[in-house]
Amino acid sequence: MPSVTTTALPLATRLRRLRRTPAIRDLVRETRLSPSMFVYPLFVCEGEGVRKEVGAMPGVFNLSVDEVVKDADAVWREGIKGLLLFGLPAHKDADGSAAWDAQAPVQRAVAAIKRAVPELVVITDVCLCEYTSHGHCGVLDGERILNDETVEHLVRAAVSHAEAGADIVAPSDMMDGRIGAIRDALDTRGFTDTAILSYAAKYCSGFYGPFREAADSAPAFGDRRTHQMDPANVLEALREVALDLDEGADMVMVKPALPYLDVISRVKREFGYPTAAYHVSGEYSMIKAAARLGWLDEERTMMECLTSIARAGADIIITYYAREAARKI
Ligand code: PBG
Repeated sequence: MPSVTTTALPLATRLRRLRRTPAIRDLVRETRLSPSMFVYPLFVCEGEGVRKEVGAMPGVFNLSVDEVVKDADAVWREGIKGLLLFGLPAHKDADGSAAWDAQAPVQRAVAAIKRAVPELVVITDVCLCEYTSHGHCGVLDGERILNDETVEHLVRAAVSHAEAGADIVAPSDMMDGRIGAIRDALDTRGFTDTAILSYAAKYCSGFYGPFREAADSAPAFGDRRTHQMDPANVLEALREVALDLDEGADMVMVKPALPYLDVISRVKREFGYPTAAYHVSGEYSMIKAAARLGWLDEERTMMECLTSIARAGADIIITYYAREAARKI
C-alpha cells in the first residue's frame, strides 16, 4: 500500500471528481464483495421436514437433514461456495458424546450434502457446547473446564466429521493444543486432505447471544471467559494465530467481526494466511431488529458491514446474510 500524505497531493486535486457518477464510483472502488467469499452457517436438527425459525434470528432456521440439502443446493446456485454446519443433537450428556456420533445430524448432513452438491465446500464447527448437558465447551471437573480431556473429545468429533466427508473442520472451542492434536489424528487416519479452519482469535463476546438460542448451547452456569479471549487484547490474538498456524491450521478466523476489524487487519497483514471473519449472530440480529423498527435501512447497513469486514482484510466472511448479500451483489 503506497502511503498518502496531504502534502504529496497536487493542490488542484479534487477528490469529488471520482465520486461523480455510479459508474465512476464502480471503477475506483477499492473493496469488492463477491458471493464466492461468503460462507453460510446452517443449524442441523433431528427429524424430517423440519424448518423452524430461530426467534432472535429472523430468516435463520433449525433444519432437518432433508431441508439442509435443499438449502445447500440453493446456496450453491446463488454462487456461495461454502457452508458451516452446527448440530442440534437429540441427546446431550456431560461428555457431549453426540459430537462424534456418526448418526448425529451434522454427520448425516455432511454426507447428504456431499452426495447432492459435491462441489460445495462443507465446513463443520467442532465444539462440545451444543452437545453437553451443561452447555459448556468442554469436559468439567466441578465448574472447571479440563483442557486436555476436552481436546481428546474434540479430536473424536473432528475425525467423525472427516469420516462423514467434511472438506474443512473448524474447531471453535478455544482449548489449547487442539489444532495440533486434530491435525495429527486426521493425518494418522489418512485424512491428509481435510483442512483445518481454526477459530484462532475467538473473543468472549456478548454478540453470541442469539446463536445460543439457535444452537441451544447456553452454558447452564458461568461463562466462557476461561477459554475465549478478553475483548481488550490484540497481541494475545496474534499469539493465538501464530500457535494455531504452527500446529497446522490452514486458515484462521477472527470472531466476531465488526467489533474486531483491527484484529482482522493485523492478522491478515502479519501472517498473510487465508483469513476468515465471522459476522456473528448478534451482529446479524442487531441489524434485523433495527430494520424491523424502521430505524435502519437493512440492505444498506448489511452491505456496509460486509464491505467493512472485507476492507479490513478478511478473505472469507461467514455470515447469516450470505444469501441476501449474494442476491444483492
Ligand atoms: C460454539 C460456537 C459459538 C459460535 C460459533 N461456534 C457460540 C459460543 O462460543 O458461545 C457463535 C456464532 C454466532 O454467534 O453466530 N462454540
